Amino acid sequence: MKPAAAAGAIKLGDLSVNRMGFGAMRVAGPDIWGEPKDRAAMKKLLARAYGLGHNFFDTADSYGPDVSEILIAEALHPYPQDLVIATKGGLVRPSRHRWDECGRPDHLRRAVDGSLKRLKLERIDLYQFHAPDPRVPYAESMGTLAELQRAGKIRHLGVSNVTVREFEQARRIATIVSVQNEYNLENRKDDGVLAACEKAGIAFIPWFPLGAGRALRSARVKRVAARLGATPAQVAIAWLLARSPAMLPIPGTGFLAHLEENAAAATLRLAPEDFAALG
Ligand SMILES: NC(=O)c1ccc[n+]([C@@H]2O[C@H](COP(=O)([O-])OP(=O)(O)OC[C@H]3O[C@@H](n4cnc5c(N)ncnc54)[C@H](OP(=O)(O)O)[C@@H]3O)[C@@H](O)[C@H]2O)c1
Repeated sequence: MKPAAAAGAIKLGDLSVNRMGFGAMRVAGPDIWGEPKDRAAMKKLLARAYGLGHNFFDTADSYGPDVSEILIAEALHPYPQDLVIATKGGLVRPSRHRWDECGRPDHLRRAVDGSLKRLKLERIDLYQFHAPDPRVPYAESMGTLAELQRAGKIRHLGVSNVTVREFEQARRIATIVSVQNEYNLENRKDDGVLAACEKAGIAFIPWFPLGAGRALRSARVKRVAARLGATPAQVAIAWLLARSPAMLPIPGTGFLAHLEENAAAATLRLAPEDFAALG
């Protein structure tokens, strides 16, 4: 069995993927801006991620921008039948350090067409609205994506960076199959959103599953890792998988050794005392 498959499967609407995905943000250049230093190495990493059993990739048009989507297509198109690529739209990058919300209907229509073209797809399996835009009513943005779904450009819709209220609002407009919010051992402020996903029977995709590296420095994580003969990253991922059957982690990396290590976390089982020691 491929390591990521050891996490079991999870449903995204009518699709089923291994419950251990790959976050493809870090294949772009430093600060997720521009091309990576070594494109060939990043394509090799993406192909290896699939080889290790990750058949759910998370990306976005803003990663690069465009770079992550283009590299995924270059590395894996024509796509294996079981690979589900989830992308996002609704953020723009006017410069290296800016991630500005843009939920206007005209922008979202262009964004979906752009992702379809870069990913070489006729229809996007999972399109996530990246973040609510405070200047555009949420219903207007979500309504536009629901229209694009009806037009056949999107198979399933997801939301990201939402409150429970926004999630419920989105569900009144369209069928939502996933929520992607920040969540990890060190940041559990969205326990309520996770509970809402469990109740709705849909996937919760934690971004920053390793706290962008911060969760790995925690003393309690290090203690449990030492006891299990695992690494802190593996413990942080195993904790997420154990925390809820709705959880679909998407750890990100630009390093092959970290990719292999993270995939192997799907085979790690935390005993109740390990889970308790992690708080
Ligand atoms: N919806 C949103 O608003 C949003 C926001 C941020 C991210 N995301 C998504 O979430 C995914 C994951 O987020 P992320 O990559 O920012 O954060 P993350 O997975 O929490 O952490 C990645 C960081 O940890 C390091 N790392 C990875 N594996 C490691 C290991 N085994 N040992 C030590 N360090 C390790 C990586 O560096 P190396 O490259 O050196 O391994 C990188 O600095 C992204 O790819 C993206 O798809 C979504």
